[in-house]
Amino acid sequence: MVALLLGAARTFVQRRTKPPVEAGSVVTKTPLRTGGSNQDETAMPHCENFAPIILTGDRPTGPLHLGHYVGTLKNRVAMQRSHRQFVLIADAQGLTDNADNPDRIRRNVIEVCLDYLAVGVDPAYTTICLQSSLSALNELTLFYLNYVTVARLERNPTIKDEIRTRGFGRDIPAGFLCYPVAQAADITAFKATVVPVGDDQVPIIEQTNEIVRRINRQAAREVLPEAKAVVPKIGRLPGIDGERKMSKSQGNAIYLSASRDEIGTAVRRMYTDPGHLRVSDPGKIEGNIVFTYLDAFDPDVDAVADLKASYRHGGLGDIALKQRLEQVLETLIAPIRERRAELARRPDDVIDVLRQGTKTSRFVTQQTLSEVREALGLFILA
Ligand code: TRP
Repeated sequence: MVALLLGAARTFVQRRTKPPVEAGSVVTKTPLRTGGSNQDETAMPHCENFAPIILTGDRPTGPLHLGHYVGTLKNRVAMQRSHRQFVLIADAQGLTDNADNPDRIRRNVIEVCLDYLAVGVDPAYTTICLQSSLSALNELTLFYLNYVTVARLERNPTIKDEIRTRGFGRDIPAGFLCYPVAQAADITAFKATVVPVGDDQVPIIEQTNEIVRRINRQAAREVLPEAKAVVPKIGRLPGIDGERKMSKSQGNAIYLSASRDEIGTAVRRMYTDPGHLRVSDPGKIEGNIVFTYLDAFDPDVDAVADLKASYRHGGLGDIALKQRLEQVLETLIAPIRERRAELARRPDDVIDVLRQGTKTSRFVTQQTLSEVREALGLFILA
């Protein structure tokens, strides 16, 4: 799937016009560039009008970690020059299971934005926006709610799963049950056709497409495009405990802002092969999280293959193996950590990126809202 996307990306790279500026310069001393212009609020000179539109989003419940990096962040950076890309900080969705702690969501909006910019999401190519500031999304949600049944919402496997893990029982906030509808509003408002997500989000995209088909049928024309979920090869990075998906709530995450010491501590805690007691013992690769991480992050694939062979055979100790992983992660995270620290000293510039991106997005989403109102045959006051 990723290969397919990258193939598509390459085709568009060949067709795209010259980029306005080199990407990655977000961390230079000059003000952060924010895209958009006065003539056309949605113009992105680096990509042509027929480039596919990508939307991804994150709930700002905490700073981002390596699971986010392999899941979507890496691809966002890779695809931003060849696609029209929007990234949504989904704070309204974050409230659906944090209604009693809105402060947590508010604080993390900037943290998440810093993570984006630090990994290389470049506002000259990617429009970063804030969900709760886009009122068209709420209006679309309200219309779409009429095209989905409560029974269908309750059948959504992701929602069922999340209701279980959050222990809601029958006391499910209505906003939570309906968040797939709000997410359908997000996706369609941007007319996104490519939505890179973790595998747990695939049922949400399916539900989006059902809503799209119902609206199109009602309007008797194709008002909205269907979207395709794109799941990266490593869609779900296990946490350092090796048992569950990496997540803040499980306390098994390595953050993109982790210090060298924090990386070292996390790697030392990592689960390997409990049967591998002496260096000379043969060890298991399967289920050995250190190798899972080396596969995900070590650019030297041949060296990792050699390490696997000698671990299996016996003679490679866990300590030496973990030292390599620690170095690999430090090499990945150190520049992100530095850029993040530099950007954190300029909060006004970061907020400016979000403000500009949200302004561009307001224009785009209002446009879609107008089209949907008209397509549904509402009385339009001129
Ligand atoms: N539900 C997504 C998550 O929990 C976040 C999200 C909100 C999203 N709106 C979106 C993802 C639109 C993709 C497209 O990670």
